[in-house]
Amino acid sequence: MKLRQVLLAATLAAVATANIAANAAEAPGALAQRGRYLVRTSGCNDCHTPGYAQSGGEVDEKLWLTGDALGWQGPWGTTYATNLRLLLAAMSERQWLVHARTMQPRPPMPWFNVRAMNDDDLKAIYAFVKKLGPAGSPAPAYVPPGKEAAGPVVRFP
Ligand code: HEC
Repeated sequence: MKLRQVLLAATLAAVATANIAANAAEAPGALAQRGRYLVRTSGCNDCHTPGYAQSGGEVDEKLWLTGDALGWQGPWGTTYATNLRLLLAAMSERQWLVHARTMQPRPPMPWFNVRAMNDDDLKAIYAFVKKLGPAGSPAPAYVPPGKEAAGPVVRFP
């Protein structure tokens, strides 16, 4: 090979390597972006973000999925939407996939919708919540049926 050809080949190889590196760096951001989309469109914020449904979704992203002190009361007792920022901070991606497929929280949590998601969607949600990072405090503890709940509740028949 002539020197010019060698230099050209080396340059092309360097460009190809740089492209691969750029794609690898971009991928996690794109995954989290898809997770953000899924969280918004599948309604997780409606219950897991304080004031979200009442304000037409006008809640700062910093507060998304930090759980809520609004109680959901029915024959199952009173439940509170979990702080998912803290929950996922303590889980590996693998643990999240298993949890999402096996959990069966009390109403009105639509666990069956989460279970129906494919691995890619669950991984995207995980990436987004991890990117937001841990924040807020744990939601109030579950109150069994017949026991008084402190604070406001939405009552189901
Ligand atoms: C209608 C309200 C509502 C919606 C919508 C909702 N959740 Fe929940 N979620 C709850 C409540 C309430 C609990 C707590 C249930 C309990 O205490 O048993 C809960 C619990 C959970 C838990 C279990 C936490 C644990 O300790 O294991 C996960 C995970 C979760 N939700 C994820 C999601 C995701 C992801 C979405 C969006 C796809 C979502 N939720 C949508 C109300 C909701």
